[in-house]
Amino acid sequence: MQDAQFDQARLAFREAVWAGLQQEPKRIPSKYLYDAQGMRWFEAITRLPEYYLTRAEVEILQRLPTLWPSHLPSPTAIAELGPGSGEKAVLLLRALPEVQAYIAVDIAAEALDAAVARVRQSGWAGLSYGQRGDWVHGFKWPALSASRRMVAFLGSSIGNFEPDEARAFLHRLRRHAESGELLLVGVDLVKDERLLWAAYNDPEGVTAGFNCNLLHRINRELDGNFAVDRFYHVAPFNAQASRVEMHLVSLCDQEVAVAGRRFSLRRGEQIVTEYSYKYTVEGFQALLADAGWKPAAVWHDHRGYFSLHLAASS
Ligand SMILES: C[S@@+](CC[C@H](N)C(=O)[O-])C[C@H]1O[C@@H](n2cnc3c(N)ncnc32)[C@H](O)[C@@H]1O
Repeated sequence: MQDAQFDQARLAFREAVWAGLQQEPKRIPSKYLYDAQGMRWFEAITRLPEYYLTRAEVEILQRLPTLWPSHLPSPTAIAELGPGSGEKAVLLLRALPEVQAYIAVDIAAEALDAAVARVRQSGWAGLSYGQRGDWVHGFKWPALSASRRMVAFLGSSIGNFEPDEARAFLHRLRRHAESGELLLVGVDLVKDERLLWAAYNDPEGVTAGFNCNLLHRINRELDGNFAVDRFYHVAPFNAQASRVEMHLVSLCDQEVAVAGRRFSLRRGEQIVTEYSYKYTVEGFQALLADAGWKPAAVWHDHRGYFSLHLAASS
């Protein structure tokens, strides 16, 4: 395939896959898990009985109107990073009635469309739109007079960063924050390994489908020739690093081609597709403080599986 046929996003995807398949261990950034099909798989994951994360965070968001600290004025503008289907945006906007503008920031156009449509269908009448891009490169707020801003980063997506990257990312958000700006972050907590295993290794194979879709996506978009049935999904908990690691493991010695380049895999060799770091409440509060944020409140679901952290820039 000629370079001219690739748009910018596809070029970046190709470079990331080429680079990742030469690393040891092989690794492809998790942001590429989310094309239209990946989004559908992820939605199915959120409905699995074993995947407690979404239900736990939704439970906290439903209680947000009673939890919100009385000394903190409600925001009037929200930028949500990685909104997915927009389900949580609707809850946030219901909980915080002073919000007048909602911006969804996502790398996947499908997520932006879905989230903004869901917000509008909910009957919410404020300004809402999507901004496509990688969070790491920042985003723009709308020009509004006298807005009180809040960045929402839900779903434990912060756990997909390595801790140093997470600190740098939070620090970047802090540097770009106005005085009094708020940050709301959903963070999954360290817990019994069996619960973590069950959440990422469901017996129905939905998480496996989500993970394997990455190889299908490479075949579709990058002229790849992965034989997807020669890989299996596994997501062990690495207790030392405090993270669940999603792997695609090669069932045999094999060669694959991606956009004209060839790579070999040994039997048993893995491609790492996602890290999901698990924090303690204290550990995450320390990370926030390190990055210059002032922790303002922290809430849990009733089982203490998941936490939602509210922090302020000053
Ligand atoms: C696991 S989903 C989370 C969805 C939702 N926040 C939730 O809590 O259910 C991750 C979302 O973040 C987006 N995403 C992942 N990495 C991204 C990045 N680096 N920049 C922008 N969006 C990204 C994905 O496209 C997807 O919509």
